[in-house]
Amino acid sequence: MTIRVGIAGIGFMGWIHWLAYQRVPGIEVVAIAEPNQRRRAGDWRDIKGNFGPPGERVDLDGIAAYADYGELVADPRVDVVDVCLPPAAHRDAVLAAAAAGKDVFCEKPLALQTEDAEAMVAACHARQRTLLVGHVLPFFPEYAWALEKIWSGDYGRLLGGTFKRVISNPTWLPHFYDLQRVGGPLLDLHVHDAHLIRMLFGLPTHVTSRGRFHGQAVEYAHSQFEFAEDYVVSSVMGVVHQQGRPFTHGFEIHLEKGTLQFEFAAFVDLGETMPVKLINARGEVLRPEALSSDPLDGFVAEITEVRNALQSRIPSRILAGDLARDAIRICQAQARSVASRSRQAV
Ligand SMILES: NC(=O)c1ccc[n+]([C@@H]2O[C@H](COP(=O)([O-])OP(=O)(O)OC[C@H]3O[C@@H](n4cnc5c(N)ncnc54)[C@H](O)[C@@H]3O)[C@@H](O)[C@H]2O)c1
Repeated sequence: MTIRVGIAGIGFMGWIHWLAYQRVPGIEVVAIAEPNQRRRAGDWRDIKGNFGPPGERVDLDGIAAYADYGELVADPRVDVVDVCLPPAAHRDAVLAAAAAGKDVFCEKPLALQTEDAEAMVAACHARQRTLLVGHVLPFFPEYAWALEKIWSGDYGRLLGGTFKRVISNPTWLPHFYDLQRVGGPLLDLHVHDAHLIRMLFGLPTHVTSRGRFHGQAVEYAHSQFEFAEDYVVSSVMGVVHQQGRPFTHGFEIHLEKGTLQFEFAAFVDLGETMPVKLINARGEVLRPEALSSDPLDGFVAEITEVRNALQSRIPSRILAGDLARDAIRICQAQARSVASRSRQAV
């Protein structure tokens, strides 16, 4: 049976999700909610983001268009509410959707505070609704290839890894450093790696972070994570104020019999990649044949996982809400560690 989705918030992510839904069978958009009247009428040409195609005019024939997500969650045609609202609105929207008996697919970060994330997971659990969170990074081709190698078991157990996500000052993002609205670099940016670390290694017991502040928000930090097991895991994240390099991300992940390596940097003049590879115990370097360069493909894979998780009711090992809640816990412990210059329990 086709899963019927209502998208709450037609901004950059609402548009990207919309495009992805068009490419996944078995799941379809039946409603949207957006206060902007032009967008409610299908004119999405003013939507712009930092990847993917610019917004277009869309045909909303047969699709209910509400001004507020409160009306969308009450629509009996909607099975799952896709929350593409600004981060500060996630909590109330997820709680409203769960109270209305809907499954939820919420964009990252799940919430800005650990207590809110806990309340959201608990509310969906109490209503026996599935909560999925849009941590799309594991579906990006290089990350997906690395995960496939790790989860194959062919290279032994994980030993650790280092994860990087550094940008220049994102002057185009309003309220970026506002802890009540966006959450700063930890909650907006690093949460992707916090989630990946949680997925791969479990919940750290402690974290030690050192960093710099921008107002109340941690602007840049190095972190060392501790686990009950002897993994060696670290991260580098944040904003560096040289505008010539808007974005960098990458990883080096160690397994008993393999090292996975990848780095991408967008400079103002061009993007440069150290392609993903696996260096194995025989001294060979393995590389994937060809990876997609279409940024939408990661979202298509993510929506496919949403559909599969909702159809099967088997918890997603990538998108499950409790992993996203733990990612918020990790980021908040890092913030406490930078502020107190001390090791913090997660
Ligand atoms: N996974 C990724 O790669 C990625 C990339 C960008 C953003 N995001 C996340 O997606 C979320 C949304 O970000 P965005 O860039 O799309 O923001 P955005 O500001 O472009 O879009 C949010 C939309 O929600 C609408 N809205 C506000 N209040 C509403 C209400 N009461 N009812 C219905 N709609 C309402 C706004 O009018 C706006 O159009 C954020 O959590 C952000 O962190 C994820």
